[in-house]
Amino acid sequence: MDIRTDYLGLSLKNPIIPSASPLSHSVDTVRQLEEAGAAAIVMYSLFEEEILDEEQALSRFLRHQDIGDPEASSYRPVPAAFKSAVERYLDQVALLKAAVEIPVIASLNGVTRGGWIHYGKDLQEAGADALELNVYHIATDPTESAAEVEKRYLDFLEDLIRQVTIPVAVKIGPQFSALPHFVKRLEGAGAAGVVMFNRFYHPNINLETREVVPSMMLSTSAESLSAMRWIGILRNHIQLSLCATGGIHTAEDVIKMVLAGADATQVCSVLLQRGPNYIATMLSELTDWMEQNEYNSLAEMKGSISQKKAINPAAFEHANYLHVLDNYVSKSRNAR
Ligand SMILES: Cc1cc2nc3c(=O)[nH]c(=O)nc-3n(C[C@H](O)[C@H](O)[C@H](O)COP(=O)(O)O)c2cc1C
Repeated sequence: MDIRTDYLGLSLKNPIIPSASPLSHSVDTVRQLEEAGAAAIVMYSLFEEEILDEEQALSRFLRHQDIGDPEASSYRPVPAAFKSAVERYLDQVALLKAAVEIPVIASLNGVTRGGWIHYGKDLQEAGADALELNVYHIATDPTESAAEVEKRYLDFLEDLIRQVTIPVAVKIGPQFSALPHFVKRLEGAGAAGVVMFNRFYHPNINLETREVVPSMMLSTSAESLSAMRWIGILRNHIQLSLCATGGIHTAEDVIKMVLAGADATQVCSVLLQRGPNYIATMLSELTDWMEQNEYNSLAEMKGSISQKKAINPAAFEHANYLHVLDNYVSKSRNAR
């Protein structure tokens, strides 16, 4: 059974990739993921905030002691063992590259256009096979238009692509008013792939303290249908790689994404819940399903139920809404 796939120009042995998460903090865990069959690994992100906070702290430290003048009375040198967030991240890229054979995709996460983006070049030099750019932007400013929000992503992407020769994927959220147009622009700007959809944490209200607190819940399988819809719609309009993320918990979820047109899928919550070895289960269920349904290769499956090829393409859109509602009403009547 041939379950190989191309993603971002990388040849992968199968379509399952652990997505950016704390799992990649440990070299042993990444080895376990590789043994279980992971096709590549996306590292936890190097965050803009982390880089900037540290740069500011260092600059405060040096200013406090007369700009690092060794003659100053308060001078304390920066400890030799001190490593910045960037250095620690680069070390981890190199460690993972030395420990596993699968491609290592480094992840940059930020919101403002600035100097931090040039670390892309260092990530490439440390051995990253590709980069994932995660623009964690929640559009809250009423004076900023959708076109400006999109331009922010495009500017970032262009800045990053100028630094590197390895492929760059952009991880996006689901809230774009004209998603296919935007993805086409990302493609035009040089993105090698799109990872959809980023899952933002939600604010919650603690009723005891009446504070707004961030809440981070793991996903469920039902969430993956949003990515499936958009991958199905996009597949026949663009050439870049499409990767599904968000709610992929089972082999069935992977199969649906590939049928809709995904080149790869990323998993996170399910691995945090079930552990790295769960990838082996997903892979074995994937090949069983392919055998039972007489597919010889993943390539044969890929996009075979995209919007263009589906028997009922309108189901990817709004056209069947009334029918779905009617069905729901009659089902609930029958259940009574
Ligand atoms: C604990 C945790 C940490 C994460 N860290 C990152 C990160 O550093 N960078 C990133 O782009 N996404 C990060 N994510 C998002 C995941 O990569 C993934 O896109 C998201 O959880 C949806 O996939 P899932 O439904 O399989 O969990 C994190 C998610 C979780 C739960």
